[in-house]
Amino acid sequence: MYNKRAQAIPPSATLVFSAEARKLANQGIDIVTLVAGEPDFDTPAHITEAAIEALRAGKTRYTPIPGIPELREAIARKCVGVNGIQATLDDVLVTPTKMGVFYALQALVEEGDEVIIPDPSWVSYGPCTTFAGGVGVPAALLCNRGFCLDIETLKSAITPRTKVIVVNSPCNPTGGVFTKEENQAIADLAIDNDLWVLSDDIYEKLVYDTTHNSIASLPGMFERTITLNGFSKAYAMTGWRLGWVIAPPEVMGIMRRLQSHSLTCSTSFVQWAGIAALEGCQDCVEDMRVQFQQRRDFFVKGLNEIAGVTCRMPKGAFYAFPAFDVDMNSNDLALHLLKNAHVAGTPGSAFGANGEGHVRFSYAASMEELGKALERIEKGLAML
Ligand SMILES: Cc1ncc(COP(=O)(O)O)c(C=O)c1O
Repeated sequence: MYNKRAQAIPPSATLVFSAEARKLANQGIDIVTLVAGEPDFDTPAHITEAAIEALRAGKTRYTPIPGIPELREAIARKCVGVNGIQATLDDVLVTPTKMGVFYALQALVEEGDEVIIPDPSWVSYGPCTTFAGGVGVPAALLCNRGFCLDIETLKSAITPRTKVIVVNSPCNPTGGVFTKEENQAIADLAIDNDLWVLSDDIYEKLVYDTTHNSIASLPGMFERTITLNGFSKAYAMTGWRLGWVIAPPEVMGIMRRLQSHSLTCSTSFVQWAGIAALEGCQDCVEDMRVQFQQRRDFFVKGLNEIAGVTCRMPKGAFYAFPAFDVDMNSNDLALHLLKNAHVAGTPGSAFGANGEGHVRFSYAASMEELGKALERIEKGLAML
């Protein structure tokens, strides 16, 4: 017998499709892979140099559990200055963002508590809720409203067992970005119903023709919000496993204890690289953002030129989430496109019931690869 909660956790669909794509590539087939959620850029050199310097300086031992004070200071400064979140270094836990999601739900959720999760949304909120003993309750993000949250739908999802509302803006997989007014409406609901908000701001820097707003900056929200952020997407640092959590004192204490008995601390020299990322020149972030925007414009325009494909212009992150007018579910469609057209995306159903009919393509790839993907998607659809 095994742990029932752990056994109930499904494999990540993105990882399943990445593995499938890799299998075909290993057979010598040229696959355009637009599955993984990671920038295709190298980590900027000054950040890598800071890690090398830290290694040379012998920064190779355990650090304090919540992270080195210099990095927590830098994160708190950024939260206050850029996001208007009134955090001090005591409110910061340095940890990979995904660990932050895990800790936050472990800390907040009691057996049977309900967690409202946008549908569609990133694949890990549901399993982390289940593992904490909670129940994920999907709240529709509506395609015909540009994947905005319908506040009435959110309201109707609240029950006496609701504990947490998950907010992810910019959103993976839709690319939707909540306005300040939408955040305020969610904040009002959270305050009126005494709920927590788990705000995943990891795509904060990747917004196009709009701005990012942190819900924890709104009045009365700091004390009921756990904000997650990190270096992976903004600084092309997915493999470094570095991010942070901002939370009020009591829940922060619990998350630190969780970290003390699991990870202990984030990798020592990587934390020094984090300081270089936050405190160094931010031109690298803007350069990558501009390139993502050019790729978005090219790819989404190309998708909309293919018969049977409709794609909204995403306002953030680096995913296109087109709808396909085909007589097949999104899993079968993604498999067909992979096996017969050699272009890999992630089926929309992996992100929730409302993702059905869509395939997520990451446009964190070169223009050449994106051009090839468009040709292949068109050919793949013509085969049906
Ligand atoms: C919405 C969202 N949150 C969190 C994460 C986890 O980020 P990291 O890999 O830096 O832990 C991801 C990664 O894809 C994501 O898309």
